[in-house]
Amino acid sequence: MWTMNTIEWIDIELTSFCNISCKGCFRVISKQSDKILNKTYIDIDTIKKRFQKEMFPNIQIINFCGSVDEPTTHPQFFDIVEHFASWNVHINVATNGSLKTPQWWQKLAKILPPGHRVTWGIDGSDETSEIYREGSNFKKVQENFRAFIAAGGQAVWQFIEFEHNMHQTEIAKQMATDEGFKKFITINSHRKDTNGIKHKKIEPVQQSTEISCKYGNQKRIFVNHMGNVIPCCHLNSKMMEYSVTNEVKDKFEQILVNNDYKNDINLDNVSIEQAINGNIWSNIIDSWKKDAIPRCESVCKQKIRDSFVHEEIN
Ligand SMILES: C[S@@+](CC[C@H](N)C(=O)[O-])C[C@H]1O[C@@H](n2cnc3c(N)ncnc32)[C@H](O)[C@@H]1O
Ligand code: SF4
Ligand code: SF4
Repeated sequence: MWTMNTIEWIDIELTSFCNISCKGCFRVISKQSDKILNKTYIDIDTIKKRFQKEMFPNIQIINFCGSVDEPTTHPQFFDIVEHFASWNVHINVATNGSLKTPQWWQKLAKILPPGHRVTWGIDGSDETSEIYREGSNFKKVQENFRAFIAAGGQAVWQFIEFEHNMHQTEIAKQMATDEGFKKFITINSHRKDTNGIKHKKIEPVQQSTEISCKYGNQKRIFVNHMGNVIPCCHLNSKMMEYSVTNEVKDKFEQILVNNDYKNDINLDNVSIEQAINGNIWSNIIDSWKKDAIPRCESVCKQKIRDSFVHEEIN
């Protein structure tokens, strides 16, 4: 399903650090978060060794967006961006926007190559955004995105709709246009536990009966902050929890145990090519024919996942 020739898109979770606590984030929800969070990041040497342009002949997107990271916390973030800047690909960064200074964001706008996109997660048109993004500061985010956009940065405003903020969607969309964002995107969150924050009610999505691997279809892979190469972000919470507990919860962890995951998918020991051709990836793919990994069933069979509604500005 995946080969080095077909990979077009790589998600990279750069760190386990973040400065805020969004109510529905794995950082807040996981019982193992104290063992996982604010501990490590992929170092620049691993990136330079394991991510070389000639290894990925059809690469199109490098996406700095993981399950637990605020990518701007990486101490070598500019060096990493510079490493990929010469690849002639789209570089995407997902951020809460509340770290660093306007000068830092100006510099980022200058070093990002053409075709980049920084997605700002701002779930409200004012301090309301701080309800879900606990610990964020709307005014600071605003100073930062203004500096980034003024310096030529291509920004996208991503707004997660909840009951408490949906009255601000149209206001935020207008603000996005006025402030110079290139796009405004709304998301309906499917995450169940957001500490009492209620979701906007949405129509159920159509159910399909076979596993249709979202990441495989997108020719996309995921690398987490511990250097584990896995098919997708949806398996990452289990991957991270298993890494710190060694607890076997279902077939996914059983596959990790049976195949000595550190020597099969971890970038300290194998290349991305070895990982995607290794036993763990083939076991995951084989599981879809019969007795699929439960997470694959729930995400890609029943299609319970975040649905994106794209709204272009103009
Ligand atoms: C874990 S975050 C990592 C990137 C960065 N820290 C951020 O928040 O943008 C990955 C993505 O999940 C999104 N996200 C956070 N809470 C969500 C929710 N309840 N439903 C859907 N997406 C959510 C973020 O906005 C971001 O696009
Ligand atoms: S900013 Fe991103 S990583 Fe940080 S808590 Fe929120 S969703 Fe999670
Ligand atoms: S959950 Fe399973 S089937 Fe879905 S994208 Fe991930 S690996 Fe593919």
